[in-house]
Amino acid sequence: MSLRGRDVISIRDLSKEEIAEILVAARKMIPFAEGKKVTHPLEDRIVAMAFFEPSTRTRLSFESAVQRLGGRCITIADAAATSMRKGESLSDTVQMLTSYSDAIVIRHPNEGSAQLAARVSPKPIINAGDGAGQHPTQTLADLATMQEAFGTLTGLKVVLLGDLRYGRTVHSLAYALAVFGAEIVLTSPPELRLPRELRAELEGMGAKVSEESDVRKAVRDADVLYVTRIQKERFGDEGEYRKVAGSYRIDPHILSEAKPRLVVLHPLPRAGEIVPEVDSMSHASYFRQAFLAVPVRMALLSSVLAHGRGE
Ligand code: CP
Repeated sequence: MSLRGRDVISIRDLSKEEIAEILVAARKMIPFAEGKKVTHPLEDRIVAMAFFEPSTRTRLSFESAVQRLGGRCITIADAAATSMRKGESLSDTVQMLTSYSDAIVIRHPNEGSAQLAARVSPKPIINAGDGAGQHPTQTLADLATMQEAFGTLTGLKVVLLGDLRYGRTVHSLAYALAVFGAEIVLTSPPELRLPRELRAELEGMGAKVSEESDVRKAVRDADVLYVTRIQKERFGDEGEYRKVAGSYRIDPHILSEAKPRLVVLHPLPRAGEIVPEVDSMSHASYFRQAFLAVPVRMALLSSVLAHGRGE
């Protein structure tokens, strides 16, 4: 597989075969991500991290991935510390980064921002989250965790719980689950349902999609429970947020009715949706999911920045 020079803006930019190959490559990267083995395919490469919205996992796991591959990073961790504060446009900022690096990983609060960056950049752009749009590399980590647990994605019953309206991780993941033939159960407050067009797209792909408003019932026969935070920062009105805040919470009591092999995932950060008492239960896989983001991103970066003949 080679994704050499390619942008990854949406999970739709990767075929089923390419995703499957990234997952295989990511498994092989685990000992390198753990620091038990050493590899330096990116030793002459610089990757720019352009984060205009807060991040812990995505930015640091990308930085870790680059450094585990022997590359180097230049980083914007805070938009307020850039010349955007002086009025510089995103487009000009990205064009500068293309002069200083070999690929750009970008996170921005506006949906479509990664696409905009790709239009002005001759270097590969990887979308690390654009508003309520997409978060394709989170999806790769999500799939890697499910595959590690079950050995397959096909036929899994996956409950997507929480903010399905604004949650970009869900928007990317739901599409990938449809590609791999998983069954999708949507569980959310009515105000935060999955966008109608996306649900229609999933059904058009032949995915089995249903809705279950009762969290307890949804959990009972799930293989995977994918919990998400209500995306407070995407609400235009604080009152609208307050109406749905705290409307679901996963605790050991709810999980007592789950299948023994249920895997609980969360892209994190969490804000009360999963109580800390769940962390020690065998279902809790969200910290493993956060770790697997490193080998997954190593596999992706190795492929996107692969050297060609004569370079
Ligand atoms: N999962 C995720 O995107 O986490 P961060 O916001 O911390 O990067």
